[in-house]
Amino acid sequence: MAASWTVNLEKISRVVNFGLPALTLVFFLAGYFSSFYFHFLTVFFLLMTLINIFYRRVQKDHALLTNFGWVAQGRYLLESIGPELRQYLFTTDTEERPFSRVERMEVYRKSKDIDASSAFGSQLEFDGGEYKLRHSMYPTLVAEAEPYTLTFGEERGLAEAYTITKPVMISAMSYGSLGKNAVRALARGARKAGVPMNTGEGGLPKYHLMEGCDLIFQMGTAKFGCRNEDGSLHEGRLREIARLPQVKMIEIKFSQGAKPGKGGLLPREKITREIAELRGVPMDRDVISPPSHVECTDPDATVRFIGRVQDISELPVGIKFCLGREAEFRALVRAMARHQIFPDYIALDGAEGGTGAAPKSFMDDLGIPILTALPAVHQILKEEEVRDRLKLLAAGKLINPGKQLIALSLGAQAVYTARGFMLALGCIQALTCNRNTCPVGITTHNPALQRGLDIEVKSERVKNYVVNLVHDHYELLTSLGKRSFRELNEDNLLLPTAAGTGRGRL
Ligand SMILES: Cc1cc2nc3c(=O)[nH]c(=O)nc-3n(C[C@H](O)[C@H](O)[C@H](O)COP(=O)(O)O)c2cc1C
Repeated sequence: MAASWTVNLEKISRVVNFGLPALTLVFFLAGYFSSFYFHFLTVFFLLMTLINIFYRRVQKDHALLTNFGWVAQGRYLLESIGPELRQYLFTTDTEERPFSRVERMEVYRKSKDIDASSAFGSQLEFDGGEYKLRHSMYPTLVAEAEPYTLTFGEERGLAEAYTITKPVMISAMSYGSLGKNAVRALARGARKAGVPMNTGEGGLPKYHLMEGCDLIFQMGTAKFGCRNEDGSLHEGRLREIARLPQVKMIEIKFSQGAKPGKGGLLPREKITREIAELRGVPMDRDVISPPSHVECTDPDATVRFIGRVQDISELPVGIKFCLGREAEFRALVRAMARHQIFPDYIALDGAEGGTGAAPKSFMDDLGIPILTALPAVHQILKEEEVRDRLKLLAAGKLINPGKQLIALSLGAQAVYTARGFMLALGCIQALTCNRNTCPVGITTHNPALQRGLDIEVKSERVKNYVVNLVHDHYELLTSLGKRSFRELNEDNLLLPTAAGTGRGRL
């Protein structure tokens, strides 16, 4: 019978406990009798011995250190580099979260403009738990497809209506959560690609403006950039922002999928003097925005506030939220109908959405995922007979063209992605956005780390990502036998059937 072999930590630590002082003594004697240079090793092992004694006899916070001394540190070390080990060595191409290597590779290859074809067959599931697109036996031709356009504000006959020509936009990420090079690379890439970029809720710093792209100014619950002392709207500042030629739309953020019910969170580590001044906040603590807008206490007040922002800005005004309760949303829609005030768009964020920083339980356990929320919101708007009064956008891990077309078939008219664009910038999913230590210089203000993010190179990647996404959108659209994005609907989807997967997964 084969002997079972297990690592006996206690035995190893006994060897270490005995070995460290023994080596100290050996090198001391060697230094004394042979060469003085051995004393360097004497000092080294003496320090190790003393630290080991500290771990085992003095500190009381960590049972593992008390029991195993230095050996336990080895475990902590392995634990700290576990994500990297798993990412590079042990996880399969489809296992990683939030984005598998297969999903990320597609974005990397699109953004580097290299052949995005794969070989042998799909690595995804075909077990009925996923949405699939239904192709047609009679595909149409890309050359015959109607070019995509979507005009925000046309329902209100706005002079400043805003038209996009690609069904994908850069979702909100503030300067603060992102470093300045990342903001500039995204902004330059947005200009080259001809897509708008959302500023996120951190106000409107110069980095968004200096690259000349179209901007959607986001007003979060803290209203950075346009707030009064008491947190209410500073109309004059909003008016000034709205008059900037680059600002094409205003977005009032009520919540985001990664932390619905909570305001924005910028950890202390990421607050530079510039950001503190920009937002009017202290540098010595996390910046936590209020959970809601002071003006928006019920559906009527919320709708009146939307109308006020529309009047002040004279621009298309959207609202962003993650769906919690359908009944609350229906009540809001009815208030819109009562007041005849409709936002120009709703940006629906799924619970699976990303963030620079959020409490873990909010990320994991709160909010409705996009594939459940999107058809529900689309349906409520239809039932209340107001579907044609506004545009509907969706976000939540929609980083690949197929997933984006699925969202467009479930009622969305365009998609937002944040992390898709982070991956295009070279994000390696190190999951350290909240620590100011992003190894590729995207979510950090450390100049040494930002150095690696070349604005020109990465802006090309952003552009390529958009160009190749849109190329695939048209290819997929025509394979469904459609000629226009307006023809997409649930009929061109195979809905998930497997039990236990809810509305299914992407
Ligand atoms: C680094 C980072 C910062 C973000 N900052 C904001 C923000 O300021 N305002 C906001 O509404 N959403 C913010 N989001 C959420 C995104 O805009 C988006 O709604 C969400 O990540 C879903 O899109 P995705 O799955 O394509 O990333 C942030 C997301 C990330 C990853």
